[in-house]
Amino acid sequence: MKKKLIQHTTAFFEKTFQKAPEHIFLSPGRINIIGEHVDYNDGFVLPAAINKYICFAVSKNATTECAIIAKDLNEAYKFDLNHDLKPIDKMWVNYVLGVLHQLKSKGLQQGVNIVFSSTIPMGAGLSSSAALECGIGYIMNKLFDLGLSKEEIALIGQKSEHTFVGVNCGIMDQFASVFGKKNHVIKLDCNTLEYEYHKADFKKYSLLLLDSCVKHTHLTSGYNDRRNEVEQGLAIIKTHFPEVKTFRDCTEIMLLGLKEELGEILYKRCRFVVKEIKRVQDAVKALSNDDFVQLGKLMTETHHGLSKEYEVSCEELDFLVDAVANETPVIGARMMGGGFGGCSINLVEKGSEKELIEKISEQYRTTFGIELKAYKVKISKGTTEYK
Ligand code: GLA
Repeated sequence: MKKKLIQHTTAFFEKTFQKAPEHIFLSPGRINIIGEHVDYNDGFVLPAAINKYICFAVSKNATTECAIIAKDLNEAYKFDLNHDLKPIDKMWVNYVLGVLHQLKSKGLQQGVNIVFSSTIPMGAGLSSSAALECGIGYIMNKLFDLGLSKEEIALIGQKSEHTFVGVNCGIMDQFASVFGKKNHVIKLDCNTLEYEYHKADFKKYSLLLLDSCVKHTHLTSGYNDRRNEVEQGLAIIKTHFPEVKTFRDCTEIMLLGLKEELGEILYKRCRFVVKEIKRVQDAVKALSNDDFVQLGKLMTETHHGLSKEYEVSCEELDFLVDAVANETPVIGARMMGGGFGGCSINLVEKGSEKELIEKISEQYRTTFGIELKAYKVKISKGTTEYK
């Protein structure tokens, strides 16, 4: 799959620019085992890069112009780095421009020709956008010696999303895409950006993604709304408990005492965050002890929190999680990522996948008239040059 992706991206570059690309880069999508909607709440997350990539075929050109071609969309965008870079009405272009806009102030002056193509399904919650942002940042840093650290590349990707795309996302997706390590999950402290790798050996279990193939349009506004709600909630908590600096210092008991003042919505949102931060820590312990049943249980708890308290799930995702609840080979399931569509992540007994996929696909088709997609993913390394 990776080889094929590289081959056809390279071939398209050659056809377009009449010359082989000088470099090939791969930037991966990500999964997240647990720790959802807590990256922007100073929590911990447990993501990993996966073997689905954006492949970039790249050459420097001796001008200040950039030609970026999105092969899968059959679209090209050309611009001059000397011009003021501003968001346009094409989303994929904005991910790129948002990064380049920042890199200009870090010394980027010279143009490139890029063709990119992807095996990361778009809108499936696997962070194809972070892969694109980080891929562009990584490439420019490498080609033009901009001296950026991996952390800076991730932060630039995140800022691009804030400023050029309008999603106030946290740092998880970009961090996972850049820092991914084969067969390891990353425990990231989103407050300090300290991180550690944990072996992702699920023994007799494997990770299975079920793609709802829906993407509800309120993703951006829904996401930003949640951010505003928890910010309001935290401000109220702080007035009563000055020792609370972030959600990490907050307990369920504190929240209970403020239930009335917070009101139903903010109370629910904050409660989810406090519990989710704790769950990730418990999940890391479970993972270290090879206690996969416990890990799975925590994942399923997360789903119910996301669905009922944080309210970022949707009918289709709830269906997918409920549908596997009584399937013995499935020991944990939850919606993954920002929500309002995309994939569920399932911890399932190896060997049970095929039958399970058939069964759930049938039920999903009957209920929603939608063809389910399933992905068995491997945990792989972060953004890199392919040689
Ligand atoms: C999206 C955002 C991330 C994170 C997740 C939810 O993927 O980009 O920063 O907040 O949603 O955990």
